[in-house]
Amino acid sequence: MQKIIDGKAFAADLRADITKKAAELKARDAIVPGLAVVLVGEDPASQVYVRNKGKQTVECGMLSFEHKLPDTTAQDELMELIDKLNNDDSVHGILVQLPLPKQIDENSVINRINPDKDVDGFHLDNVGRLSIGDEGIVPCTPLGCLMMIKDQLGDLSGKHAVVVGRSNIVGKPVAALLLQENCTVVITHSRTVNLEEECRRADILVAAVGRPEMVKGDWIKPGATVIDVGINRIDTADGKTRLVGDVDFASAEPVAGKITPVPGGVGPMTIACLLHNTLQQACRINNVAVPE
Ligand code: GUN
Repeated sequence: MQKIIDGKAFAADLRADITKKAAELKARDAIVPGLAVVLVGEDPASQVYVRNKGKQTVECGMLSFEHKLPDTTAQDELMELIDKLNNDDSVHGILVQLPLPKQIDENSVINRINPDKDVDGFHLDNVGRLSIGDEGIVPCTPLGCLMMIKDQLGDLSGKHAVVVGRSNIVGKPVAALLLQENCTVVITHSRTVNLEEECRRADILVAAVGRPEMVKGDWIKPGATVIDVGINRIDTADGKTRLVGDVDFASAEPVAGKITPVPGGVGPMTIACLLHNTLQQACRINNVAVPE
């Protein structure tokens, strides 16, 4: 097996499997999974993500519904749209792209989504289910991380996992998933004392802090599996910009046993897992088995 984990290839395999299952679901039960993506405002990065989501949804044989609203949208208008999508039988997944404009309360919007259609896994019902180890919808980026880690390492029981970052979108759910896999899990953050030492104990190190190239090679235990969730755009000396992760790849790669690159690591897995969640929920909502 190669040292650099190829997230792009892994995601392509996952999408191929989803495409096959979506075709089977259509032939067997006349169900076509539908994903609604809601974008409020004009944030350039969000626009790119939403475009990619729509494109890949269609490529997998599913229906994509895009709702673009101005950044002046009032909370009530957004709530009305969510209610409409909750009641629309052709929609099995609803994703509201974050961040939302400041006049809108994110948590109220997320928790208005029918938990069975919450393919981001951000609704309190799904967060609670993950927390107690009950079946629910798992957030896409953490699910993508776990799939790659398990593909590399198999059984994770007893492994020492260190998560750098405690966000609701990545740090906390990825820690919950690793705990469910019987890892010993340490969550670290900006106030952690001796962060480097904590990281050096990790068999599995997940970096999700949003600090460009913060984790250096000498923070890593030789042979460890390093998953870099960061996507940071930095200025280079020649006046251009470059995408880097939260891990300093140049110094980390020689020490790690396995490592994800940026770009081409965790990133492509996120949308693939979103499509995975949408297909799963289309089956669950219609009370049919997921095709083999
Ligand atoms: N913005 C950045 N990442 C995400 C994500 O995973 N889901 C949503 N809805 N918005 C995001």
